[in-house]
Amino acid sequence: MSALKLPDFQLQAGTMAFLEKHPKSLFINNEWVAAQSGKSFETRNPATGDVLAEVALASEADVDAAVSAARAAFNGAWGQTLAGDRAALLFKLADLIDEHADVLAELETLDNGKPIRVARRGDLPYVTKHLRYQAGWADKIEGSTVPVTFPNQFVYTRREPMGVVGAIIPWNFPLLMAIWKLGPALTAGNTLILKPAEQTPLTALYLADLVKIAGFPAGVVNVLPGPGQPTGAAMAKHPDINKIAFTGSTEVGRKIMEAAANSNLKRVSLELGGKSPNVIFADADVSSAIRGAQWAVFSTAGQECVAGTRLFVERAAYDQVVEGLKTQVEKMVVNHGFAEKVHVGPVITEQQMTRVVGYIEDGKKAGAEVITGGNRVENLGGGYFVQPTVFAYQDDGISIVTDEIFGPVAAVTAFDDWDELITRANDTMYGLAAGVWTRDIGKAHRYAHAVQAGTVWINGYGMIDPAAPFGGYKQSGFGREMGKEAIDLYTQVKTVWVNTQ
Ligand code: NAI
Ligand code: MG
Repeated sequence: MSALKLPDFQLQAGTMAFLEKHPKSLFINNEWVAAQSGKSFETRNPATGDVLAEVALASEADVDAAVSAARAAFNGAWGQTLAGDRAALLFKLADLIDEHADVLAELETLDNGKPIRVARRGDLPYVTKHLRYQAGWADKIEGSTVPVTFPNQFVYTRREPMGVVGAIIPWNFPLLMAIWKLGPALTAGNTLILKPAEQTPLTALYLADLVKIAGFPAGVVNVLPGPGQPTGAAMAKHPDINKIAFTGSTEVGRKIMEAAANSNLKRVSLELGGKSPNVIFADADVSSAIRGAQWAVFSTAGQECVAGTRLFVERAAYDQVVEGLKTQVEKMVVNHGFAEKVHVGPVITEQQMTRVVGYIEDGKKAGAEVITGGNRVENLGGGYFVQPTVFAYQDDGISIVTDEIFGPVAAVTAFDDWDELITRANDTMYGLAAGVWTRDIGKAHRYAHAVQAGTVWINGYGMIDPAAPFGGYKQSGFGREMGKEAIDLYTQVKTVWVNTQ
């Protein structure tokens, strides 16, 4: 097992024990159970290509069993839990995650490939910040009284949970994505079936143990590892799941809506892809902007929905930015996540590496100029490494500019005037995020208002916070996670009329 022979890193005993001894089966009704089909799948370490673990694969029958358990919990003990008691359990879970953070970070690096420093300082602290923030809403989910035109009627609203929620999540921030969904879903009083991505199931399984230790009643949280087919698809069409919360590709988001439409009209919230524009005006603090542009793409090897992959630079600053970006990016060390020096880890799978390299080749063929990078990294063992790559381009219609690549690839172009900028920046089916760098405060806000994106950063890039609503415009999805909006996403409004005569 590759995890055990990384030469320069001593894994925690807890990580080794988890890899060697944990059942890695399905977590239903607070028990570890085998997949009814007996099927399993492999999860690999993207830094080596080696198999880390064999994991049970949930099929339709297992989804049925998990839904029954979640429904029974919703109708039973969990449905009766007082808001403050739900919050207490969620705070307990957050404490347990903190206690186990070192092991969880190592599992994240093994399964996803990200640098251990990023897992420790980026992912894990935010996992518990998000969980605690959402738990804090539990006893503040209020309705309102409504001044209707009828006499002698007292009308009020209640925000009630939806019931059984299915969460289908991607591999780029495995535990964080799980908590983005689990936090508000449970805070609002729903029960949950969590399907981690097939590339990164390990931390969700570890989380299930902590859920049990924290003392959640059976059936409140169920974890079903497996791929999109059959596991995710069985959830999306299940007649007794009330809502699916999804993060992933636009293509699969569309399929989930379709399955919802053709089954029980379950509620759907979608956080999908992006091709976010990041704009540098000539009056910006250009060196900060260059660093910002660099980290906006390469900190996660480009595997981030908000990655600022389309960089627009005002002509007067263009040469300086391209030169600076080339210098900065060439200093970035590509390596496995446990290496002492690493800025950019591997991409998630061999298939993703092939896809990313395919885009790079398409970019070259389409006439975009390679400023730096442009190839696989071959000398790092069996891992899936791609050089941080920057293209300069003119043609907005080429695939490296139109498509979400989800790899370490940025595309930079020059612009001359405002109308051109706004038209080109918005010329995408996506609308997740945008950045702008300028010292002109009026211009910054004008841009923030003109750009079609759910989040805009002015003189910064990439911050996401538990208190700040987050989600997409256009085909980047709908529904807002984080903030109080996240509670709205997991509740429905009931209006009660009382005749007071
Ligand atoms: P994906 O959208 O296929 O997978 C995301 C989740 O959906 C996984 O849990 C997967 O098992 C599940 N899924 C797949 N097919 C399903 C179906 N028919 N019904 C229900 N669930 C299903 O994304 P994938 O294949 O991992 O990556 C492909 C591309 O998607 C990436 O290159 C990137 O462009 C985009 N992506 C965007 C993400 C984001 O954060 N917005 C995250 C991951 C991928
Ligand atoms: Mg993996």
